[in-house]
Amino acid sequence: MRVHVLGAAAGGGFPQWNCNCGNCARLRAGLLKGRPRTQSSICVQGLPGPDWALVNASPDILSQVRATPALQPNRGQRDSGIAAVLLSDGQIDHTTGLLMLRESTRPLPLWCTDPVYEDLTRGHPILGVLGHFCGVERRAVPLDGRTFTIEGVPGLQVAALPLASKAPPYSPHREHPVPGDNIGLVLTDTASGRSLFYAPGLGERSEAVEAAMRAADCVLVDGTFWTDDEMIALGLSHKTGRSIGHLPQSGRGGMLEWLAELPQATRKVLIHVNNTNPILDEDSPQRAELVARGVEVAWDGMDIEL
Ligand code: MLT
Ligand code: MN
Ligand code: ZN
Repeated sequence: MRVHVLGAAAGGGFPQWNCNCGNCARLRAGLLKGRPRTQSSICVQGLPGPDWALVNASPDILSQVRATPALQPNRGQRDSGIAAVLLSDGQIDHTTGLLMLRESTRPLPLWCTDPVYEDLTRGHPILGVLGHFCGVERRAVPLDGRTFTIEGVPGLQVAALPLASKAPPYSPHREHPVPGDNIGLVLTDTASGRSLFYAPGLGERSEAVEAAMRAADCVLVDGTFWTDDEMIALGLSHKTGRSIGHLPQSGRGGMLEWLAELPQATRKVLIHVNNTNPILDEDSPQRAELVARGVEVAWDGMDIEL
């Protein structure tokens, strides 16, 4: 199985267009040791071949496709290596890229849960808009842990796990999350049995998620904020990370404590990193702490082979 990181940043990307936080301003000025990153998305395939499952469709999808020749296998006048799209939630940074794929010559196979499908047809009705172009062929992601396979992406098995996180602001259940607003995905290579757990938005620990993380060979999980009050401390927002569905890395009960409990052999990678997060600065003490703990930070173009 091959997982390719298309975008490793959270919503807004890094640097964010209107942001002059220390990270964004220093990156623009060439004063920060670190990479720019586009918004959150990966693609995955089980067997080597021309076709991939796109997991989340970022507003940056067009530049991500340009940066990834494997996604353009050039088998015909109009072609794409994106065989299907799978969504972990209905947030803007994970879904608006669907509109950029409107030139598709066939309805896009789209895997999402029922609550996400509702949000994308009501509060944020991009599927209705897409219906005037290529449209989608919707496939329901089961929430009971049943595994499923994606047509055109052989050698890959997928299972979804409901996560405690947040529904998007335009969802009728923003403050009363329902199972399926956010899912973690267990991506398994059917031949080797090796697996990766992907959860770019993870707000709380739960037994089911802990078990999925322990069982995985690699975890690719929420790296949004270093501290819970990161945006508040910078004067950029009044909301804590936890209140918008993102467990911070540092502090008691944070992501680093959790990752430290996983088996030594588990590959641990943070993704969906917000532009305010000090771990984006490769010279920061926070990044040094990650290195000491054996935790990686995903970057655009990173390949994970399992
Ligand atoms: C999130 O992950 O909380 C959202 O994507 C934030 C956003 O992009 O507005
Ligand atoms: Mn996001
Ligand atoms: Zn910033």
